[in-house]
Amino acid sequence: MCGIVGYLGKNRDAYPILIKGLKRLEYRGYDSAGVALINEDGDLSVYKTKGKVADLEEFCTDKDITGHIGIAHTRWATHGEPSSVNAHPHYSQSKNLAIIHNGIIENYAEIKHNLMEKGIEFQSETDTEVLVQLIDYIQTKKNLSLLMAVQVALHQVIGAYAIALLDKRHPDTIIAARKQSPLVVGIGDGEFFLGSDASPIIEYTDKVVYLDDGNIAVMKLGEELKVVNILNEKLSPEVQTVDINLGQIEKGGYPHFMLKEIFEQPACLTNCMRGRINVEHDRVTLSALIDHRSKLLNAKRIIIVACGTSWHAGLIGKQMIETFCRIPVEVEYASEFRYRNPVVGESDVVIAISQSGETADTLAAVELAKSRGAFIYGICNAIGSSIPRATDTGTYIHVGPEIGVASTKAFTGQVTVLTMFALALADAKGTVSHDEYVKTVKELAQIPAMIKDLLKVNDQIADMARTFTYARNFLYLGRGFSYPVALEGALKLKEISYIHAEGYPAAEMKHGPIALIDSDMPVVAIATHNGMYEKVRSNIQEIKARQGRVIAIVTKGDTTISKIADAVIELPDTMDCLEPLVATIPLQLLAYHIAVCKGKDVDQPRNLAKSVTVE
Ligand code: F6R
Repeated sequence: MCGIVGYLGKNRDAYPILIKGLKRLEYRGYDSAGVALINEDGDLSVYKTKGKVADLEEFCTDKDITGHIGIAHTRWATHGEPSSVNAHPHYSQSKNLAIIHNGIIENYAEIKHNLMEKGIEFQSETDTEVLVQLIDYIQTKKNLSLLMAVQVALHQVIGAYAIALLDKRHPDTIIAARKQSPLVVGIGDGEFFLGSDASPIIEYTDKVVYLDDGNIAVMKLGEELKVVNILNEKLSPEVQTVDINLGQIEKGGYPHFMLKEIFEQPACLTNCMRGRINVEHDRVTLSALIDHRSKLLNAKRIIIVACGTSWHAGLIGKQMIETFCRIPVEVEYASEFRYRNPVVGESDVVIAISQSGETADTLAAVELAKSRGAFIYGICNAIGSSIPRATDTGTYIHVGPEIGVASTKAFTGQVTVLTMFALALADAKGTVSHDEYVKTVKELAQIPAMIKDLLKVNDQIADMARTFTYARNFLYLGRGFSYPVALEGALKLKEISYIHAEGYPAAEMKHGPIALIDSDMPVVAIATHNGMYEKVRSNIQEIKARQGRVIAIVTKGDTTISKIADAVIELPDTMDCLEPLVATIPLQLLAYHIAVCKGKDVDQPRNLAKSVTVE
């Protein structure tokens, strides 16, 4: 998830427009930033640096930043660690072209190999540089226009992209193209703007064209916007009027990043599974498992270390790995593990889970396990962060930057990766039947669509939340795979609404917490049609007998529990082991809406930070 900005005009300087635009898009990524400008003498300059847009501005203080045409980028690394070299824009070898890109070129390794055989030298580790080198190579070799070279190159490319290109020989033109990554063109009076969303544009014009997949836009001074497809067929894009304020659009129209991130989950999980789940062939492939097959296959024990929400994902991972792979799994708070001289050694695999990849306790637990000879596997979101760099191997969750402090999409991304890990390892070990494996892979691939449908429950939960804002305490109950979901639901509520909440395995209620039940204590009970249904239903009856108020999370079509519960939220029917991926969604929404009703700062709750780099 990177941010793209472009400007082309006659009278305004491009640089300030680009920098302002990048700042608006910084939520999309902020590990490095860069700008390419063509000045009045026709020089194409690229300035880029590791860090945020503010670092780029500082870097540019003594540079020539003149010119009325430019493109700029803020990066969230996917291929190649965050560094100045890997930052965009990237030049082609001739330095005639500069490109910025948001997305992933999946077949970049193959294209790179071919180009290297033809003598092209690469400066960075990115998939993006491969694309600009390919375009330049095609353009030169076949003596094509830039547009045609782009079309030919995009024919060869597999993956997702939003790109923008400058050619120093044509200082009056920007070419942009999109497939599966957003791109908006702003049409001003004799000038063009470009953005990953409209936020860098709306200050200057309200006339925009949202490019569709397969569109290539040619913005040329003195001409109308031209949009064609890869076959050079002319298209007639719809010019729309945007009527939104800046505050909204930076959050993609959502009032809070948290809500936006909850709603992004179908797309995020699709990204997370992309290239890993092959539904046609009913297969899960994780490169880490291929590269380190024997180490993982021979693990005597797996220890999962993590904190907070990531620890909850670990609890689900434990059940998943034990169920499918028959390997014993321990789940440890990283903060405890690091200080208690744990028994860990060479026959252990330690899985470290962290959204930020920077959590100090998790990093310290990784270092400790490493020093004892354990093999370390990272499951992280932030590319190139400290934990993935400290591990032996791992799998990125690829859910994009998470800005809301309360983790939402990272949790479901972590659970998705753990599910794929368990399935792929079980298949390799032969501990899962072929039928079970295929059934689970197929069902996992359906989860994004299920979540998309489930999100329609948002309005119902918003209404429901108003009825429960009075509460000072909440209890969350679940069993089996749903127990960690109960913990996660409780954590979400307490961190953003400041209501005290506890998650419990439902059967433990009678061993203590039942004493708390009264009409002031709402209980969220996950009571879906899995093996524990009857038992959780009895728990609900015990709560009702004590005047407790119950919000029941049930399987669609359940008619029994709706008769006894005070409120019911229906989930799509799925396999037990995949249920956390859907059951979490209404709990995220419930916490969100209760916090909103209480007027709390949802995205930046008090005392919390997104990345806990201190003990
Ligand atoms: C809760 C939350 C935290 C984090 C925890 C670990 O919503 O966000 O509990 O899960 O601080 O952070 P990471 O995953 O970055 O290691």
